[in-house]
Amino acid sequence: MNRHFLNLSDAGGDAIAAMISDAIDRKAARQGWPKGKADADAPLAGHTLGMIFEKNSTRTRASFEMAIKQLGGDSMFMASGQMQLGRGETIADTARVLSRYVDAIMIRTDDHAKIEELAHHATVPVINGLTDLSHPCQIVADLLTLVEHGKALPGLEVAWLGDGNNVLHSIIEAAGLMKFNVRIGVPQGYDCDASFIDAARAQGAQIMVTRDAMEAAAGADVIVTDTWVSMGQEHAHNKIAAMMPYQVDERLMAAAKPDAKFLHCLPAHRDEEVTGAVIDGPQSLIWDEAENRLHAQKSILLWCFGKL
Ligand code: CP
Ligand code: NVA
Repeated sequence: MNRHFLNLSDAGGDAIAAMISDAIDRKAARQGWPKGKADADAPLAGHTLGMIFEKNSTRTRASFEMAIKQLGGDSMFMASGQMQLGRGETIADTARVLSRYVDAIMIRTDDHAKIEELAHHATVPVINGLTDLSHPCQIVADLLTLVEHGKALPGLEVAWLGDGNNVLHSIIEAAGLMKFNVRIGVPQGYDCDASFIDAARAQGAQIMVTRDAMEAAAGADVIVTDTWVSMGQEHAHNKIAAMMPYQVDERLMAAAKPDAKFLHCLPAHRDEEVTGAVIDGPQSLIWDEAENRLHAQKSILLWCFGKL
């Protein structure tokens, strides 16, 4: 039975807690080492990760390449436009063929149904490197970052400001699994998929949706935002105008707890979803968050290979 990682619930709360703990240990064990040197136990020696990108990426590509390298394995980068996939070969056939060459497949794509199809036909683990629906790898890194900075997850108040997008879906999913609460400030017409909210509430998380940005931020432990225009969406003026009241600025940060932290998965658009003063300010954890993509990917890979 393959361990696919298409959404956080494929792993579950206990496995995510194990990923965070393993990432903290591995990160500490290699402090000061050259980044390309393998961890002492090289647990994935001989394993190759195939990576298909149907959309652009900086962090996901670079962190997965280095993650498998640090675990003792190799990676293979494939841009879909240079593959037969890009001229009509089916996902199913691509899955069957790549499963004969590589030990796991990571894909960044648009329609989530494509990754489900890939996983259905692959005989190796498949990892979601972002779809239009969700971005689970990002949220493992975000949770790791919060834990590292002294925030216990159960009961944490996480405020999301802006678009109801793929990153928010994975945050809500994590809330149900790790028992924290989400306060969503989103304009009318840009709500997220209600099924994520229903599932998290059924698991005991409190999920609040408001049109009032200050109400979302009030008393929060963490403020999170993301680009207002995700990959594949149009940069529409009416969307930017609708999002403007949800911009994370110093006034909004002041409504949160005094020790509140700021997260953003990046890439950022300063003075759109967040002001420069906040994203480059003392409450921002964005560089640790970006670094932690690497440490989180290692734990995700280990879980997929049954080593966590
Ligand atoms: N946060 C994130 O997934 O970044 P990339 O698009 O650069 O991979
Ligand atoms: N919501 C963004 C995240 C980028 C990492 C997008 O899908 O483009």
